[in-house]
Amino acid sequence: MAYETIIVEIEDHVCLIRLNRPDALNALNDQLLKELARAMTEAQANDKVRCIVLTGSDKAFAAGADIKMMSEKSFTDVFTSDLFTDETAAVARVRKPVIAAVGGYALGGGCELAMMCDFIIAADNAKFGQPEINLGVMAGIGGTQRLTRAIGKAKAMDMNLTGRFMDAEEAERAGLVSRIVPAKELMKEAMGAAQKIAEKSMIATMAVKESVNRSFETTLREGLLFERRVFHSLFATEDQKEGMSAFMEKREPQFRDR
Ligand code: CAA
Repeated sequence: MAYETIIVEIEDHVCLIRLNRPDALNALNDQLLKELARAMTEAQANDKVRCIVLTGSDKAFAAGADIKMMSEKSFTDVFTSDLFTDETAAVARVRKPVIAAVGGYALGGGCELAMMCDFIIAADNAKFGQPEINLGVMAGIGGTQRLTRAIGKAKAMDMNLTGRFMDAEEAERAGLVSRIVPAKELMKEAMGAAQKIAEKSMIATMAVKESVNRSFETTLREGLLFERRVFHSLFATEDQKEGMSAFMEKREPQFRDR
């Protein structure tokens, strides 16, 4: 079934998903989130895809959950439907690496969606924020949790309590984004990073993702044990033999995900 609120393209093993509700600055409504969840699940299942890039437009990655869609909802509506839960879980569940390429506004659910990705490359015009407080509510899909883990309590409290926006430079200083590039180079940079990841052994990239994410869920002792065991297990792969042989033979490795 064709998508209406996102555009999906696969190019050289990279699945590019572009949020596409320009009239609403890519605000996240039910349809968009369902389509995004489906696209992520399909990218995970597609053997040709080795890395995913999620982006929006030059003006907005996404300006938040759709306020017009939410405004009339009651507690019962959002509680019983578990608003946004299934769809965002599908995004966070993807095991292949996902890069967020953020230009313009990444606010509320938009900032939270970017944080569900594995790392964020920001255009120099990017603005991050959790302005839900201005609507009489609070962040609901990670803005008090993932943001606090990313930038610490002081800044997370500041962002969530005042609703102020953070520019790309502050976001990079704070550890929310990994790189900043001029806006016109955003997609080149993000696709380049994705291509680099796509060249690696996918067993290893998926293992890295799982291991880094484990650090947010467990103690250091357990995390180190998990990391060590996954590291050991990679010696069971042909890609480990290939990678190390290629190094010694001074040639590029040809990984086969085995
Ligand atoms: N929901 C629905 N529509 C939105 C939207 C949103 N989150 N953000 C922008 N839009 C719409 C506007 O209503 C407007 O549509 P109309 O032309 O039909 O009126 C269009 O997008 C363009 O927006 P603006 O005219 O406001 O553009 P601007 O350049 O003047 O301002 C902005 C840009 C600062 C991002 C402003 O649009 C804004 O503040 N948006 C809301 C940001 C926000 O509060 N996000 C949090 C949402 S709640 C949430 O996300 C909950 C959660 O954690 C899950």
